[in-house]
Amino acid sequence: MKKILKREVPKYDVKDLKLAHDGQLRIEWAAQQMPVLKLIKERFSKENVFKGVRIAACLHVTTETANLITALKAGGANVVLCASNPLSTQDDVAASLVVNDGISVYAAKGEDSKTYYQHIQWALDSRPRVTMDDGADLISIIHTQRAELIADIIGGTEETTTGVMRLRSMEKEGALRYPVIAVNDAKTKQFFDNRYGTGQSTIDGIMRATNILLAGKIFVIAGYGWCGRGLAMRARGMGARVVITEVDHLKALEAIMDGYEVMPMKDAARIGEVFVTATGDINVIRKEHFKAMKDGAILANTGHFNVEIDLPSLGELASSKRKIREFVEEYTLESGKLYLLGEGRLINLTAAEGHPAQVMDMSFANQALAVEFLVGLGKKLDTKVYRVPDVIDREIARLKLRSMNIAIDQLTKEQRQYLAGWEMGT
Ligand code: NAI
Repeated sequence: MKKILKREVPKYDVKDLKLAHDGQLRIEWAAQQMPVLKLIKERFSKENVFKGVRIAACLHVTTETANLITALKAGGANVVLCASNPLSTQDDVAASLVVNDGISVYAAKGEDSKTYYQHIQWALDSRPRVTMDDGADLISIIHTQRAELIADIIGGTEETTTGVMRLRSMEKEGALRYPVIAVNDAKTKQFFDNRYGTGQSTIDGIMRATNILLAGKIFVIAGYGWCGRGLAMRARGMGARVVITEVDHLKALEAIMDGYEVMPMKDAARIGEVFVTATGDINVIRKEHFKAMKDGAILANTGHFNVEIDLPSLGELASSKRKIREFVEEYTLESGKLYLLGEGRLINLTAAEGHPAQVMDMSFANQALAVEFLVGLGKKLDTKVYRVPDVIDREIARLKLRSMNIAIDQLTKEQRQYLAGWEMGT
C-alpha cells in the first residue's frame, strides 16, 4: 500500500457525524456499568499520567472502547482510533468520539478491506509511542510496512488470544521489535471477558440474527478454550444439547466431565443444527463437513478472524447464495441449504453489540493500567511479550468486587503463618 504522508491524513473518517448524539447516550449507558474504569479515569485525570503521549488504538469501535479512549485522553494522551474488524464498528460511537471528544477516529461499519487498511495507515501516521491492538494488526503492519516508526515506540498492548499467539511466534522467531503486554492473558480478562462475555454475547448475536429457539437444538461448539467454555455453559442454559469438538485431549476430557458430548467434527457435522467455531484456528469447518451437514444447519464463528469456517469452499459447493435476513446468508448445496451468519466474522460483534460493558470494565481496566505500566517504564523493558503484572490483576479484581458491594474474608495472622509454613498442622 502507498505510504500516506502526514499532511494527507484526514482528521477523521467515520460514516455520519449526525449519529453523535445517539452514540453519546449509549457511551454513557455503558459507562454506568464500568465502575473500575471510571475510578482509573478519575486518577488518570488528576495525575495527568499520559501527558502528550501519542497512542494509536486498533480496537472494536464500541461503547466500551469509547470509555477506554476517553480515560486515556483524560490522562493527557493524544489518542487516535481505528477499527480492529471491518464489521464491528458502531457508527454512532465513532461519530460521538469525533464530535464530543475530539478524537481522530478512522472506522465505518462495513468498510471494505482497502479502506480498513487505509484507516490503519492513517492511525499510524500519528506516529504513536504506544500501540493498542485487538488482533495484532497495528503491530504487524508496523513491523512489515512501517518499520521507521519503531524507534519512537515505547511498547504495545494486545487484547485477544489470536493476537497474543501471533506475537509469541514473532518473539520466538526474533522478529518482535518492541515490548508488548498480553492483556488477554490477565486473569481478570480471560476468566470473565473470554468466558462470560463471549458466552453471553455470542448467543445474543445468534439470536438477533436468526431468532431461533435454542431449546432442544443440537449446538456444536468447536474449541473448548475460554470462549468455548463460556458459550457451552450459556447454550446449555438455554436448553440446547451441546456437542464439543476439540484437538486437545485435556480440554476434551474437561468437556466430557463438564457433561457435554465430545466427538470429531466429521461426526458432529452429521447431527448438528447450529455450529459455532471458537478456536482461533483455520478451516475448522471445511468442505467435507459442509457436505455432511443437515439441511438448514446454521454456521457462525466467534473466533477472532473469519478463517475458522472455510468460506471459499462453501462458496464453491453452493449453486446459489442469497441474503435471507440481516446477517444471514443462505447457501444452496446439493445436500440442502446452509445458513452462514455475519459472513463468518465474530458474530457477537457483527450481529450484536459485543461483550456487555460489565466485563469490558475489567478488560479495559487492564488495558488502561497496562498502558500506564508501559509509559511509566519508558524504554526499560526488553523486547518481549509480557504478562500483565499480577498486582494489576489483583487490584482490578478487588475494585470490581468492591463496585459490586461484595466483601470477602481476610486471612488471619494464624492462617497466613500456616499457609506460608510447613511445620504446623502435619
Ligand atoms: P483458547 O486458546 O483458550 O481456546 C481455543 C481452543 O480451541 C483450544 O482449546 C484449542 O485446543 C481449540 N482448537 C484449536 N484448533 C481446533 C480445531 N481445529 N478443532 C477444535 N478445537 C480446536 O482461546 P480463547 O480465548 O477461547 O479464544 C478463541 C478465539 O476467540 C480466539 O481467536 C480469540 O482471539 C477469540 N476471542 C473472541 C472474542 C469475541 O468477542 N468473539 C473474545 C475473546 C477471544
